[in-house]
Amino acid sequence: MKPITFLLVAAPTALLASCTAPPAGTRVSDAEPGTVAYDRDVFQTLLGNHELIRREFREVDGGIESVTESDNAEVAALIQDHVAAMKVRIENGYRIRMWDPMFREIFDNADKIRMEVSNTPKGVKVREVSDDPYVARLIQAHAKVVSGFVERGGAESQLAHEPPPR
Ligand code: HEM
Repeated sequence: MKPITFLLVAAPTALLASCTAPPAGTRVSDAEPGTVAYDRDVFQTLLGNHELIRREFREVDGGIESVTESDNAEVAALIQDHVAAMKVRIENGYRIRMWDPMFREIFDNADKIRMEVSNTPKGVKVREVSDDPYVARLIQAHAKVVSGFVERGGAESQLAHEPPPR
């Protein structure tokens, strides 16, 4: 099975064309990049290593700016991989975590969200904004949920999250 697995990594789908492939050694999934199964394996690994992650975000006009990093190089690479993959999902409306009202609402409004991501040496810097005042509050509420994932890991990801009132 090894050569087949390698081929999947070496030839990621067009869906992930804009994503950074994780460096050797950081692979945590046998699923094909761009699939729900792959994305789940990545974020489950992040949740399991949440104590190695630090994150700060601040509210700006229309949304948030955040920095999410780890001193562990493999975790840092997975943060970069996760956020690149989530940007592709937002830009294409490829939904995930639809049982959680917060995420359902994010994807219902994905066409009003602009996400700018730059990699830092240890993770990512994100600016995420919307011209729509409700979507701006939604982005800010979602950023608090991400901070909860970082603080509490799997315990937080089992919970459903309510979006802000309109
Ligand atoms: C410790 C675990 C996690 C970390 C460190 C993490 C990190 C991030 C970061 C940095 C962003 C960019 C937005 C921001 O900075 O506020 C983001 C967005 C996103 N994450 Fe995660 N995440 C984690 C867990 C999860 C889980 C469990 C899911 C479940 C599907 C998920 C789905 C998403 C989605 C859909 C977005 C794009 C939506 C948006 O930004 O509005 N993340 N994540």
